[in-house]
Amino acid sequence: MNSSPRLTWLETVDSTNLYALRHYNELEDGDSIAALEQTAGRGREGRQWFSPPGRNLYLSFLIKHPPEPAYRVSIIAALAALDLVRQLCPEAETWLKWPNDLCCGNQKLAGILCEGKISDGKIQGIVAGIGINLNSEVSELAALDRPATSLKIVSGVTHDLHAAADFLANRLRHREAAFRIDQDAMFQEWKNENKLVGQHVTAACGGDTRSGIITAINDDGSLDFTADNGETSRYLSGDFTISREALDQLFPKP
Ligand code: BTN
Repeated sequence: MNSSPRLTWLETVDSTNLYALRHYNELEDGDSIAALEQTAGRGREGRQWFSPPGRNLYLSFLIKHPPEPAYRVSIIAALAALDLVRQLCPEAETWLKWPNDLCCGNQKLAGILCEGKISDGKIQGIVAGIGINLNSEVSELAALDRPATSLKIVSGVTHDLHAAADFLANRLRHREAAFRIDQDAMFQEWKNENKLVGQHVTAACGGDTRSGIITAINDDGSLDFTADNGETSRYLSGDFTISREALDQLFPKP
């Protein structure tokens, strides 16, 4: 591992993930690509990621020869993003929401999209794309179809994009190195930061909405759910909403 990570800044790009995949051969393991603007930012499940110019952090981190199982690479990205958010705003009620969201209270602050570089039918590398709403205003986020917030809204402070990207790129390298040493410890840390387990939630998956309890996150990254009528299901992805009352218990006010 190099001690100084390479962070490349782009003025504008379709998507930092796509850029990293296109330039895979020229990039090195542990490199990060950040952009001031994405014109076609990619989100989970084919959604677009809101990427206005100069406002928020859009960064992709490249892992060549990813550790197995590859799906766990998103854990590295989620914990590094949490490190940054807590560094900038320690007082915020930040938590991880399975599968790949970082929330503040009941609103989304950041998302992660991992995409694979496949050749000869094998995953050669993984690009972990991280979008963090640093400086978006309430009016911009109100137009989105899901509740979202930014660190500026939460803290009242405008955050420096370059300093934030430097910190995140470093934390990604640090987290990746630690993951390779003790993957299970980091998986456990990630599970502990996921506040959905044990909570009564509304689950929205494939047009179907049900309420029930999240009972477990399994070692393969799937999630177990018991609906109010007693039916059990296992999810690989989905959107879950936790009540404000449950959050108040998780983050009691002093
Ligand atoms: C999600 O839907 O929650 C995942 C969002 C991931 C957005 C980031 S921004 C940097 C990188 N480039 C992209 O096009 N997407 C990811």
